[in-house]
Amino acid sequence: MRLEGRVVLVTGGARRIGQAIALALARRRAHVVISYRTSAREARATLRAIQNLGSEGLAVQADLSRGSAVQRVMDRIARRFGRLDVLVNSASNFLRSPFETLTERGWDEALDTNLKGPFLCALYASRLMRRHGGGKIINLADWAGVRPYRDYLPYCVSKAGVIGLTKALAKELAPGIHVNAIAPGPSLPPARMSAAARKRVATRVPLKRWGGPQDIANAVLFLIEGTDFMTGSVIFVDGGQLIA
Ligand SMILES: NC(=O)c1ccc[n+]([C@@H]2O[C@H](COP(=O)([O-])OP(=O)(O)OC[C@H]3O[C@@H](n4cnc5c(N)ncnc54)[C@H](OP(=O)(O)O)[C@@H]3O)[C@@H](O)[C@H]2O)c1
Repeated sequence: MRLEGRVVLVTGGARRIGQAIALALARRRAHVVISYRTSAREARATLRAIQNLGSEGLAVQADLSRGSAVQRVMDRIARRFGRLDVLVNSASNFLRSPFETLTERGWDEALDTNLKGPFLCALYASRLMRRHGGGKIINLADWAGVRPYRDYLPYCVSKAGVIGLTKALAKELAPGIHVNAIAPGPSLPPARMSAAARKRVATRVPLKRWGGPQDIANAVLFLIEGTDFMTGSVIFVDGGQLIA
């Protein structure tokens, strides 16, 4: 699929990896919609950057764990552009929850945003995509969805769910809509992570360093423009973390 003139939605596109993806798509001359939940200032700045690249953009506020909010995002896109060609499900949370203090609420927070959110976005986006023959959905998973680490049980399970969701959606939506996932390894540390902890993470990666948002954006570009013969797949962009 060529991106020029296409309409894409990047959830969580105001900052960090989502922003890198949004700008990479704008550079390919797609019209880029970003959704944000709390980062209004960053969303405005990213929208300006999209427009400065010569693309049309739109920033929509939404809590994507709620179906009514997701539907409103799709309605805005339909009114503004009349179509949707690509959905990138990047919005997510990353909440530390040691098992001893884990609560039902902690489970719901991770699963509602990280798994139900991408499901709802795919459900409503696919209806919009089908009006014009099809599209592509790309879900951001995590290598930890395959090899969970400690203290993040709901997060790891939510990302395992994203991998399952990707395969099930690919089957449901073929042949018109292609659904794939990208499973990043350590790509962009959370702001709260200490320098020492960042270093420790890097030493455990076979390639001995963190990746970057551009590595993930490049994989997104590949899934959209590089092939039209992939669905139900997971690309690990993880510096070899999975084989460590
Ligand atoms: N960073 C890494 O190294 C890494 C590694 C493996 C996998 N990943 C995956 O790659 C993706 C991007 O990573 P990231 O580190 O850039 O993500 P992030 O900073 O943790 O979160 C991205 C955005 O998700 C939005 N979000 C959170 N809860 C939401 C909700 N209920 N409704 C709507 N939006 C919500 C937030 O928007 P607001 O700021 O507007 O509130 C946030 O900016 C994620 O899916 C992540 O799990 C990242």
